[in-house]
Amino acid sequence: MKEIQKTSALNKKDSSWSGRFNEPVAELVKKYTASIGFDYRLAPYDIQGSIAHAHMLSVQGIISQADFKVIETGLLEISEEIEAGKFEWLLDLEDVHLNIEKRLTDKIGDAGKRLHTGRSRNDQVATDVRLWLRSVNEQVIAGLKKLQLSLLDLAEVHFDTVMPGFTHLQVAQPVTFGHHLMAYVEMLKRDVARFEDCRIRINRLPLGAAALAGTSYPINRELVASTLGFDGVCENSLDAVSDRDFAIEFTFTSSMVMMHLSRFSEELILWSSPRFAFIDIADRFCTGSSIMPQKKNPDVPELVRGKTGRVYGHLTALLTLMKGQPLAYNKDNQEDKEPLFDTADTLLVTLEIYADMMRGITVNKENMRQAASEGYATATDLADYLVKKGMPFRDAHEVVALAVRHAVDKKVDLSDLPLATLQQFAAEISDDVYAVLTLEGSLNSRNHIGGTAPVQVQAAIVRARNGISQS
Ligand code: ARG
Repeated sequence: MKEIQKTSALNKKDSSWSGRFNEPVAELVKKYTASIGFDYRLAPYDIQGSIAHAHMLSVQGIISQADFKVIETGLLEISEEIEAGKFEWLLDLEDVHLNIEKRLTDKIGDAGKRLHTGRSRNDQVATDVRLWLRSVNEQVIAGLKKLQLSLLDLAEVHFDTVMPGFTHLQVAQPVTFGHHLMAYVEMLKRDVARFEDCRIRINRLPLGAAALAGTSYPINRELVASTLGFDGVCENSLDAVSDRDFAIEFTFTSSMVMMHLSRFSEELILWSSPRFAFIDIADRFCTGSSIMPQKKNPDVPELVRGKTGRVYGHLTALLTLMKGQPLAYNKDNQEDKEPLFDTADTLLVTLEIYADMMRGITVNKENMRQAASEGYATATDLADYLVKKGMPFRDAHEVVALAVRHAVDKKVDLSDLPLATLQQFAAEISDDVYAVLTLEGSLNSRNHIGGTAPVQVQAAIVRARNGISQS
């Protein structure tokens, strides 16, 4: 935006409340209390809300049809001035609402002064924030779906790529890389559902609540709600102007996405480190070190992990902002905007960069496979094999533990032990055991919905794609 001007041309009369005051507001206080430095972003929604409000006033006969027309034309012109970067935002006019209203009155005279009939900045700002957030919410859902699609593309390539699955960051059982990626597709699916649900509570109209108690004019709130695409009105005026729970909920839901992506980032960082060397992240997402020439740092995942803290901070800020406020509106609420705006900005850019980063991941299949075959990842398969031969699971568990211990001592894999050796641990073992001890045998045996068998991963990918295209 253009730099915010302070204007000396304004005198006391330019303030909306000037009649009540004996001295002008101190310069430092003006700066401290103004929100124009950040709430100018609400301008398109402020104008949209004002036109809907003025329209309703004219339909109800509260202002004339002629006044509505000039208000509408004036506001649309202001909208163009703002878009063209020609609008002069004035600090003296405190916030986006007063800046626009003053400009309107300068342009069209008395009709402009009638716009605020039956309305307060309290219900106005709550409306603007909801309209803005509704649009952001849609962009977030679209961003989440794009990320899911690029995860699905990668999962499709790697539906049968073997990697070690970990518990406690120790090799546990073989899984496919595609299956691992699909875990994140599931998380993001729930995140999408959370944002869709959040929209229900965002999409209610506060206008009509006026300052806090409603208004004595014969307004029609339902008309404004339907003009602005709200599903209904906020049903209590005090609640309408004071609560920001919908913003907190959005920030919580955003925190949840960031938490999911932070976990994934942690994995990308580990996997791309030379110690793991499972994947390579395209250079465009990494930077080098100014001192160590060999380094290629996974900056993007590290920053996603870092920015997760920033979004959690916004959630804490918003929760704390609300907790001490008596009903109804308090100026505290002006502090809702920066955390909310930054949450949205951070999340949207993170989703975009992440979707692109998925396209920049290459997999070192040999290293993944090697790691999967090193950690006795098929030990559970051997136990299951014994169970299928009639041994109780707990006994089988103990037999395999002894066999693993033996293999550890010999520094070999279970599948390297000769049949005679394996039979010393359990006579039930015969040479069909080797099929079970292979990585592919282990994967293919987990052939049920939610399992890691490559056919199941393929089926999960198809289901996920259908889900995304149907929603
Ligand atoms: N700039 C204010 C905000 O962001 C607008 C509402 C001001 N209302 C008031 N009574 N001071 O919340």
